[in-house]
Amino acid sequence: MGLLARFHYTGFRNMYSLLGGSLRVERLTVPIRNLPPALAGLQIAQLSDLHFDGLRLSERLLHQAIAATNAAKPDLVVLTGDYVTDEPDPIYGLADHLRSLQSRLGTYAILGNHDLLYARSQPMITKALGDVDIRVLWDEVIYPFGEDLALVGLRDYWSPRFNPAPVMQQIPAEMPRIVLSHNPDSAKSLQRWRVDLQLSGHTHGGQVIIPGVGPIVMEMKKLRQQLSKPMQRWVKHLTQGCDKVVQHWEWAHGLHQVQDNWLYVNRGLGTYLPGRLFCPPEVTLITLVRCHPYSGNRYQAEVAVSISR
Ligand SMILES: [Fe+2]
Repeated sequence: MGLLARFHYTGFRNMYSLLGGSLRVERLTVPIRNLPPALAGLQIAQLSDLHFDGLRLSERLLHQAIAATNAAKPDLVVLTGDYVTDEPDPIYGLADHLRSLQSRLGTYAILGNHDLLYARSQPMITKALGDVDIRVLWDEVIYPFGEDLALVGLRDYWSPRFNPAPVMQQIPAEMPRIVLSHNPDSAKSLQRWRVDLQLSGHTHGGQVIIPGVGPIVMEMKKLRQQLSKPMQRWVKHLTQGCDKVVQHWEWAHGLHQVQDNWLYVNRGLGTYLPGRLFCPPEVTLITLVRCHPYSGNRYQAEVAVSISR
C-alpha cells in the first residue's frame, strides 16, 4: 500500500471510529413463562453486527465490547450475525478476537445477510467461528441450559429458504424458548409460534436517531408521503437503500411486544456512513426471570440502561 493510499485508509478508519461513538451496555430483564426455578437469573450477553472489515469496527471498540461482556460473567453469549461486510476473509482476524469471550455455557452464533454474500462466505465463517469453539446455528434447536429451555438459531430471513416451521415444530408447546434471528422483520412470521424472546440485530438501531421521535429513516418515510409526486420519487431515490434494510423500522432498536412474543433488537457494534447519532454501539446483557403465574401472556419486561466507557 502506497503512502497516500495508507493515509487515506488510516483517515477513513479514524473517521469511522469517530462516527461510531462510545459503547453502551444495555441491561434487560425478561420474564419467561414456565422458566424452571433453577434457571431464574440466567444471564445472556448479546453482540451483533460487527462488520469487521478494517473500516466499520475499530479494534478498540471490539476490545471494549469483549471486555464488557466478560466483566458481566454471563452464563452464555450469543452473536446475532453480520461478522463481515463483503468478502468473508476478515472472519479469521475477528474469530481470533472472539475466542477471548468467556461464559459458563459457551458462545453461539447465527449468520446475517452479509455473512452469505459469496458462495464461500457461509462455510468459511462457520468454520472460522467453529475453530474458536463458537457454534453457528443454522435452523437448529439446542439445549445448552438443560432440557427445560430451548435455544433456536434460524437461518437469515433473506436467505432463499427461510422457513421457521420445521424448526419451531420441534419444540414442545410448553417449552420456553429463546430465538436468534438476525433480521427483526422475521418477528412477523414468528408470530405463529410461541417466542418468549427473539434476539435480533441488522438495523444498527437506525444509526441516526431524532431524540424522542425515532430513527430518521422512519421519519423520512413518513415525510415522503406529504410531498408532491415528483418530490416523493426524488426522496425515495435518495432513501431507497434504507427502505430495503427492514420493513419494520419501528422495531429498529430495543424491546418490542409483537402480539404475544417479545422482540429485542440490538443496535450492533459496526457503523456505516453517515455514522451514529444518539444511537451508540451496544452490548446487551439479558437476565431471564420467572413469569408471575397470573400475568398470562402479556407480561411486563423492564429495560435498565447502564453506560460503559
Ligand atoms: Fe444485516
